[in-house]
Amino acid sequence: MLNPTRWPYPRVIAHRGGGVHAPENTLVGVRVAGSLGFGGVEFDVRLARYAVPVLMHDDTLERTTSGAGPVGELDAAELRALDAGSWFGNEYAGEHVPTFEAASALCRGLGLWANVEIKAEGPDEAAEAGRVIAGQAARLWRTASPAPLLSSFSEEALAAAREAAPDLPRALLVHAAPADWRERLLALGCRALHCHHETVTPPLVAALHEAGFGLLAYPVNAVGRAVQLFQMGVDAVVTDELRDVRPDLPAQFGIAG
Ligand code: G3P
Ligand code: MG
Repeated sequence: MLNPTRWPYPRVIAHRGGGVHAPENTLVGVRVAGSLGFGGVEFDVRLARYAVPVLMHDDTLERTTSGAGPVGELDAAELRALDAGSWFGNEYAGEHVPTFEAASALCRGLGLWANVEIKAEGPDEAAEAGRVIAGQAARLWRTASPAPLLSSFSEEALAAAREAAPDLPRALLVHAAPADWRERLLALGCRALHCHHETVTPPLVAALHEAGFGLLAYPVNAVGRAVQLFQMGVDAVVTDELRDVRPDLPAQFGIAG
């Protein structure tokens, strides 16, 4: 049964903005998630040159933009000049790499809750990214309730985020839960563990809940699997298939919460 104190967030969350329906980590993707009825979006944030946070999954530009090379070598204006939509479809030509600030403004304007995933390469970059992104998130969402949830595969980033914005909630991202998940979550002051859905088991859900932590599963792209996970007690799923794994799925299948 969902405990709203443990998980006060949407239970079905759009992955990388608009999932498979729009270029990832763009403003049009966030708008697509909103237009499809989602109440929450996950997106990836990393630092451009001069430590300006932007939305980008990869550490290099080739896959999702018209640029090349490391993201951190270009400043936000240079990134804005790139095309971040054509790789996905001609109709998205001219879509920009958004700043974190612009994505936050859009989410707040649309009433969308955000799971902000902090991306970085190596411990030094991760500490800077955690500090800068958490600090900016705290300023941008100053009055938001619920506040955005910061998550990262990097424990250095989460530790720095905690230092910079202790009041913002945090979650540790992993593929599979490590044996010492409890100690790690406590040490980082995290409220949830985010696991690859194939690694989630009923005993893990029960142990996390017993210890007071939430559990999010990613990426969950089939309705049947989402229902299974909710029946196990998973608090939330992140999905790319926004037209199949619908925000009202738990209610539709009579899953408590
Ligand atoms: O936050 C869940 C998921 O986004 C982690 O994987 O590679 O899509 O950022 P990735
Ligand atoms: Mg992500």
